[in-house]
Amino acid sequence: MTGFLIQGVSVLGAAPSDLVLRDGFVVSAPDGTEDVVDGSGLVALPGLVDLHTHLREPGREDAETVETGSRAAALGGYTAVFAMANTSPVADTAGVVEQVWRLGREAGLVDVQPIGAVTVGLAGKQLAELGAMATSAAGVRIFSDDGFCVADPRLMRRALEYVKAFDGIIAQHAEEPRLTEGAQMHEGEVSTRLGLTGWPAVAEEAIIARDVLLAEHVGSRLHVCHVSTAGSVEVLRQAKARGVRVTAEVTPHHLLLTDELAASYDPVFKVNPPLRTAADVAALRQALVDGVIDVVATDHAPHAVEDKECEWAYARPGMLGLETALSIVLSVLGERWDLIADRMSRTPARIAGLDGHGTDLAVGSPANLTLVDPSARRVVDPAELASRSRNTPYTGTTLPGRIVATFLRGEPTVLDGKAVK
Ligand code: DOR
Ligand code: ZN
Repeated sequence: MTGFLIQGVSVLGAAPSDLVLRDGFVVSAPDGTEDVVDGSGLVALPGLVDLHTHLREPGREDAETVETGSRAAALGGYTAVFAMANTSPVADTAGVVEQVWRLGREAGLVDVQPIGAVTVGLAGKQLAELGAMATSAAGVRIFSDDGFCVADPRLMRRALEYVKAFDGIIAQHAEEPRLTEGAQMHEGEVSTRLGLTGWPAVAEEAIIARDVLLAEHVGSRLHVCHVSTAGSVEVLRQAKARGVRVTAEVTPHHLLLTDELAASYDPVFKVNPPLRTAADVAALRQALVDGVIDVVATDHAPHAVEDKECEWAYARPGMLGLETALSIVLSVLGERWDLIADRMSRTPARIAGLDGHGTDLAVGSPANLTLVDPSARRVVDPAELASRSRNTPYTGTTLPGRIVATFLRGEPTVLDGKAVK
C-alpha cells in the first residue's frame, strides 16, 4: 500500500492544510514515502454515499454493469453506493444480493451495498426473503421495490414489522398506482397544454402520509425515495415533528429541473417521479437545507439507447446522476461544504448504518474521501461519461466543480480527474 500526502488542501472549506493517508487511514504526519498530490485550490470532502443507484446488473448489462456504474460513482466523488433491487432477476434472494455484493468487491471502485426487494419479483404480492438477505454476506439493511410502490398497506405494515427486528429500513417509492395509471409527466398546467396524462402530486403525498402513519404505528424505520413535491415536504415536516422514524431523499434533478422541459418531448427528461413545478423545486431546496429532507440521492437510472431515444410515451423513465450530482448540488447550495458533506455523505452513511464512510477527515478516520475543484467549470458531454448509458439531461450544460481525486480506504480510484482502473 502506498501513502498519499495531499498538500495544501482545504478540508470542508477550512484553511489549507496537509492531509496524509496511509494504510487506509488518515494519519498525522508523512514519513517521506508518500506520493504527493497538489491540493491547492481543492476541497476535501468525506467520500459521497448514494442511497439510490441503479446498476442494472444482473440483467441489463447493456445499460450498466456493477463495474461501469462503480466507475461512474468514483468519478462523481462517491465511495459507497446502494444498488437498487429492480434487476433481472430481481434482487429478492440472498443469492442475488450476494452476487451484486461480490461484483462490487471485484470492481473495487466503491463499496457496493445491495438493496433487497421488499416483495418477491417486485410484484407487491408476497414478502421477499428479507431475513435471508439481511443475514447473507451482503448484510442487507435497506429494502425497496423501487420502480414500484409497495401499494398494499397490509404488506407495507408487515415489511415494516419484519425489518424492525434488525433495525432495517423500508425505502418506499411513493406512488399510488391507481392515481398514476398511464401517467407520462407531472399533472398540471404543462401536461394540460401538451395533452399528456398527468402524475398528480397527491399520488406521492397520499402514500407518504399513509406510510408515516404505518411507521409510527409499528415503531419502525421508513425512508422515502426521491421526494418530489412541496406537499410531500409538509407531510414529512409534520411526521418528523411528531417523532416518526422517517428519513427522506431528494434527487439532484428534482432540485434543478422542472416540468416545462417536457414541452421539448425529449424523453431524456422523462423520469419517475416526474419533474415538477418551480414551486416544488423551491420547496425541496428549502427542505434540504432545513433537514426535513435528509439526503441527496441520485436515482442514477441508466437506460440503453433503444429504451430512451424513442417516442416519449414509450421511453423508460430515468436519468443518469452519479457523475453530475455534486456539480448540481454545488450549483443549488453554493459552497456550503459542511452542508454538502452532511447531505451527501454523513447522513446517508448514518441512515444506512454504513461503517467507515461519512466520517470526519480527522487523524484515525478511514481514508474515504474525494477532492473537488470548485473553481473548475465543465460542459457535460455524454460521450465522456463512464456510465455505459448516455441519458444525461445535462448535455451541453456548463456545470460548476470537478472531481479531481477519490480515495477508497486510502487507495485512489480517481486521480487527475481520471479513473485509475
Ligand atoms: O425514473 C425512474 N427510473 N424511477 C424509478 O423509480 C425507477 C428508475 C429505473 O429503474 O429506471
Ligand atoms: Zn423510484
